[in-house]
Amino acid sequence: MPVKIKLKKFVDELPIPNTLSPKKRDYHSSYYEVTMKEFSQKLHRDLGPTRLWGYEGMFPGPTFEVMKNETVFVKWMNDLPKKHFLPVDTTIHGSEITLPEGRSVVHLHGGRTPAHSDGYPEAWFTRNFEQTGPLFEREVYTYPNMERATMLWYHDHTVGITRLNIYAGLAGLYFIRDEHERSLNLPKGNYEIPLLIVDRSFNSDGSLYYPSKPDQTDAALPHPSLVSPFDADTILVNGKVYPYLDVEPRKYRFRILNASNSRILTLRMESNQPFYQIGTDGGFLETTVKINEFILMSAERVDVIIDFSQYYGQTMILKNVTKSASPETADVMQFRVTVPLRSTDTSSLPFYLGNMERLPRTIAKKTRYLTLVRIKDQYGRSLNLLGGKMWMDRISEKIEVDTVEIWRIINLIDDDPHPIHLHLVDFQILDRQPFDVSHFQKTGSLIFTGPPAPPNPYETGLKDTVGTPFGYVTSIIARFGPFTGRYVWHCHMLEHEDHEMMRPIEIFKAYR
Ligand code: C2O
Ligand code: CU
Repeated sequence: MPVKIKLKKFVDELPIPNTLSPKKRDYHSSYYEVTMKEFSQKLHRDLGPTRLWGYEGMFPGPTFEVMKNETVFVKWMNDLPKKHFLPVDTTIHGSEITLPEGRSVVHLHGGRTPAHSDGYPEAWFTRNFEQTGPLFEREVYTYPNMERATMLWYHDHTVGITRLNIYAGLAGLYFIRDEHERSLNLPKGNYEIPLLIVDRSFNSDGSLYYPSKPDQTDAALPHPSLVSPFDADTILVNGKVYPYLDVEPRKYRFRILNASNSRILTLRMESNQPFYQIGTDGGFLETTVKINEFILMSAERVDVIIDFSQYYGQTMILKNVTKSASPETADVMQFRVTVPLRSTDTSSLPFYLGNMERLPRTIAKKTRYLTLVRIKDQYGRSLNLLGGKMWMDRISEKIEVDTVEIWRIINLIDDDPHPIHLHLVDFQILDRQPFDVSHFQKTGSLIFTGPPAPPNPYETGLKDTVGTPFGYVTSIIARFGPFTGRYVWHCHMLEHEDHEMMRPIEIFKAYR
């Protein structure tokens, strides 16, 4: 168990991760090199320094700032030690004892990336590419950045140890900018702030704590054994425990990501002031939405404006009001509106943000019904599966490139919702509809017990990750393209993803 250390809140200033400079740049492309390293960093005034793994030896990793349609080449390099410093469970698929523990592969989450550069879980590599996974293809990845302006993030995606590599610190932010965004005159520069939120636990010496077995001791379990899932007891933003940010009485734009392994955040301002939401995972909404509270599951993002202009002299806390939150995890960070206004705030808070192409249900070529089910593995641990299948089972999601499909995700697991993430595509949430679970379990057919509910107001834009609650069919629609090849979809609770809750997708070109 982690020793409960009471860390004083709001004593460290919120850090802003550095922007990464390319090694080379020309008119429409740039080339970067990023090395994963072990290092130590202070995560709180009274703690540490803490041993971490990070891109360029930082946590979070350095931020990419790229333009839409700029081709970005990145040589991701691994300089990590041979041994992991967190408990590796060698009984889970892809993490066998014969495999090197210091392996890694990088995925750009939310990106439309050619398959060879998507960071397939089995395309891992070790230091100097000495050892590589069975599906390793290339050292330099290509990102075409064809999305609209948005905030993506990059993180580790190694089969069997993603939860450990990300927990160790392998995650960073990636901004795509475009002219349209510029024309909106949103708060920018010092007034646009990324918030990468995670939970972590610590040992008394300041080192990271990650459990090596589930709470209930069971002699039959392997050691170390995966726990599923794991919620840690301390909240960090941009790599600091409960930081504060001094702000001016004006509008700020916050780009918020939940990069926790499994924790569900429900964010709300203590002052009850609204968030003006302008974007979601995949970029701008059509129109600004005023919200007081929103849920972010692992990997979900929002783009919001907070207006501090009426709050000069006050301090307020960004709260996590998720029901299961403890006093420790109910606070995220503090804003202090104590800095006098430097100059008049000329930024805008536009209502209309631009067009968004909505896919009508009628153009879907196929509707897939995919269950989320829980069984037990050979050690009696719960095993959550997609469509009842394991990672290595034959590919069932084969999709013709550029066709539109509706996926109806039928959640039969009586527990927290699972954040389901698809690579390559942005999708729209159609609805969530309650159904008779026991009838479905007996007959395999759906009887709905209520009307379909539209997505939450803050989920109406393009998404790449969606919360799928128990007892509901969550329906999404997406166009699968423009690339062909092998991708994945999975639960973004990393403890689930590492333990079979991930499946391949094959995008193919039909020859007629
Ligand atoms: Cu953020 Cu496949 O992951
Ligand atoms: Cu899950």
